[in-house]
Amino acid sequence: MFGEGRRDAEAMLVGEGPGETEDNTGRPFVGRAGKLLDSMLASVGIERGEVYITNIVKCRPPRNRDPDFFEQNNCLPWLREQTRLISPKIIVCLGRVAAMRLIRSDFHISAEHGRIERKGAFNMMAIYHPSYLLRSPQMRPETFADLKVLERFLNENRPAGAG
Ligand code: URA
Repeated sequence: MFGEGRRDAEAMLVGEGPGETEDNTGRPFVGRAGKLLDSMLASVGIERGEVYITNIVKCRPPRNRDPDFFEQNNCLPWLREQTRLISPKIIVCLGRVAAMRLIRSDFHISAEHGRIERKGAFNMMAIYHPSYLLRSPQMRPETFADLKVLERFLNENRPAGAG
């Protein structure tokens, strides 16, 4: 699973690593969690096809465990290059693993989700992982609010003249 989406996407969404369906199809977030992600994005007017979606690690960790530090290190050069080529306005970490790796190692997703912060050349934010939202549907309104923040950011940072 490498990643997919627009070459000129303004938002890049980064999960932790492919699950079984993603591993089988070579596409990110196409299983149950991906369907939920698609519908939550659509609920704030963001089409899956307008963003770029990838993961920290490109191969499925055995039994869906969290990718370890060394596995992440092995894959990070890919993500760096993807980020350089796409050059998104904002990177959205899907879940704790991506947020702790890309934003800050002490990132607390329950306290800090939905906040946009600047890191180097990028705006970054994290939202709850869609798999967590499948298990804990009562948390979905918080992610809906976070996605509204993302939508507002994208609207405010749209290049002049773009639809
Ligand atoms: N979970 C992830 O973190 N990434 C995927 O692509 C699918 C499920």
